[in-house]
Amino acid sequence: MGAARRPRGKIQGAIAPVCVRSLSNDGLVLATMFLTRDEEAMLAGEKGEGARTAMELLVALGGIYDAKRLVPIASAHLSGVSYKTIGEGGIEFLERLSGDARVCVPTTLNPAGMDRRKWREMGISPRFADRQQHIIECYERLGVNTDCSCTPYLNTNVPKRGQTLAWAESNALSFANSVVGARTNREGGPGALAAAITGRTPEYGLHLDDNRRPSMLVEVELDEVDYSLLGQAVGSVVGGRIPYYRGIRPTVDQLKTLAAAMAAAGSVALFHVEGITPESGEHDPRGLERLPIGRAEIESARNKLDTGKDPELIALGCPHLSVEEVRDLAARLKGKKRKGDAEVWFCTSRCTAASCPRELEVLSRFGHVVCDTCMVVTPIEERFRVTATNSGKACNYLPTLCSQKVVYRTTEGLLEMIS
Ligand code: F3S
Repeated sequence: MGAARRPRGKIQGAIAPVCVRSLSNDGLVLATMFLTRDEEAMLAGEKGEGARTAMELLVALGGIYDAKRLVPIASAHLSGVSYKTIGEGGIEFLERLSGDARVCVPTTLNPAGMDRRKWREMGISPRFADRQQHIIECYERLGVNTDCSCTPYLNTNVPKRGQTLAWAESNALSFANSVVGARTNREGGPGALAAAITGRTPEYGLHLDDNRRPSMLVEVELDEVDYSLLGQAVGSVVGGRIPYYRGIRPTVDQLKTLAAAMAAAGSVALFHVEGITPESGEHDPRGLERLPIGRAEIESARNKLDTGKDPELIALGCPHLSVEEVRDLAARLKGKKRKGDAEVWFCTSRCTAASCPRELEVLSRFGHVVCDTCMVVTPIEERFRVTATNSGKACNYLPTLCSQKVVYRTTEGLLEMIS
């Protein structure tokens, strides 16, 4: 990063802006970004070491993506919580930042590597539990809400249309962009944390109108839609482009499932659903490349995901179960008898669990209600080899992050295995 100098022109929203030049190794100017006095002070270390590190990270990110300035954010959501995924290197980074820095906007946290209360029942080792607890305490010191869920948009961190955010966690940020109409890039854990500490994020990508236009028209020709398989079919074709859906009427929970599956099968961070998502009316999809989705595409997605048999673990709640989903599961299971030997997990947030205690009693007769974590970020590979799930996102990650063979079933199919 190069030295700062004051520019002559006036930059909107910035008081006495300072120009920061990002330099390549051979000294060439890569990008120029304008900082306010306040941002400059953070970068100079006048507001502490943590804020300086955070600002350096944001300026470097802005340089890479050619952002011209930083913009204020309304909230942040952080990934990088499980000891399984961040390890000792992540702890070192968090210890450094949590020395003197604090978040300055509402900030929530993704699932950790274990249920904080029932970790022994999950077969977690004392050492893992100790390191995991230390990570959560670092976030607590930083001022982060440690509810540990990937669906903060349902309760603990509800974004509003038009707000600028810095969210990590692919399902959450896609939901915020697509269903709420807020604006966030697909942040990584460190970028989102740096934004939470400084209250700003570099303005590029999905923060800009031009980058939010749909680039492909998805025409769904199905009477009944399985949203995990639809997300898989579309995500694997569109990659990082922005799909515009025609022919579906998903509920909020189905939108959550769709967002998660597309983010995992591709890297979709924003999608439009005609007549449902806030920005869909602002775009005319005529003339876009068409992607018809019928039975053949859905069956092909199913065959790709469903590769195992005889599951040892049956896991629901990726993304974390909502109150409505918990109620629906309890209603379907009430009065039935448990069958089968496979262990069963219902993954949800502690906040959601607290709102439906009677339904949780029903679910507890069929398996473990697991909070703060999920089947992907906890070390299930130490106990199980085959996992069954109804989540397109989990099907994508279980083989790579948890060495699992995967059985894909609808919710109904999973409930038939256990009742
Ligand atoms: Fe959430 Fe874990 Fe799935 S973080 S989206 S339940 S992989």
